[in-house]
Amino acid sequence: MSNIAIISDIHGNKVALDEVLNDIDRRGITRVYCLGDLVGYYCFFNEVIETLANRNIPCIMGNHDFALVHNNGVIERSVTCTRILKWQMKFITEKARGFLSSLPEKLEIDMFGKKATCYHAGLADHRDEYLFDVSGDYLKEHNFKEDILVTGHTHLPSYKKFYNSQAWLNPGSVGQPRDGDNRASYVVISENLNIEFVRLSYNSRIIVEEMKKQGFEDYISAPLLTGQKIGL
Ligand SMILES: [Fe+2]
Repeated sequence: MSNIAIISDIHGNKVALDEVLNDIDRRGITRVYCLGDLVGYYCFFNEVIETLANRNIPCIMGNHDFALVHNNGVIERSVTCTRILKWQMKFITEKARGFLSSLPEKLEIDMFGKKATCYHAGLADHRDEYLFDVSGDYLKEHNFKEDILVTGHTHLPSYKKFYNSQAWLNPGSVGQPRDGDNRASYVVISENLNIEFVRLSYNSRIIVEEMKKQGFEDYISAPLLTGQKIGL
C-alpha cells in the first residue's frame, strides 16, 4: 500500500504546491489528502484548485474556502484576509468555485489499519479553532474515539502521541509556513505510523513579485521569505 501524504493551507501558493507534489510523485506516493485553505492570501488560487481537482485529491473546506463561498469573502477578525478574499472572488473561475463549494468539513482516512479523522481546525470548531496543542483531556472532552486526529489551520507542523496510543498530527502549511522556516511543509505517513515531516525550498520570490504586480503590499507576501506569520 502506498504511503500517505497530507498537505494543508496552500493559500493560492501554486509554486510551493508544485514543489510538494513533485516530491510526493518522486516518492511514488499515490494517497494524498488536503486539509483545506486552498484560497486566501496569494494569487494562484485558481491554479491550486485546478491542480487538486485534476489529481482527485480529497480536500476539506478550510475557513478561507468557506468565507469565499459562503460568507461573501469576509473573515471577521482580519481586514487583510477579507480584502484578499474579495479580490479572489472577482477572479475565481466558476469551475473552481464549484469545487470549493463541494468540499466536506471532515475526512476519514485509513492509515495502515488505524483510523484517522481530519478537520481543517479542531474538534471544538471544525473550521476555525487554533489548535496549538492537544491534550488527552481535550480528546476525551470532545469524545474523540478514533486513533489519530489530524488538523491544519495553525500552519505549524506538530505531532504528539498519547499514552493510550492515540495521536495528533498537523502537517504544517504548504503555502505559508509560520514557524520561522520558509520552506513548504507537509507530512508523509508510512507503515507503523512512521511520521516524516518534509520541508522543501521553493522560489517564493515568484509569489512576492506577482502579489506586487496585483497591487498588494509587501507585508502580505514578504513573510514568505522568512516563514513568519503575517501581521494583520
Ligand atoms: Fe485556516
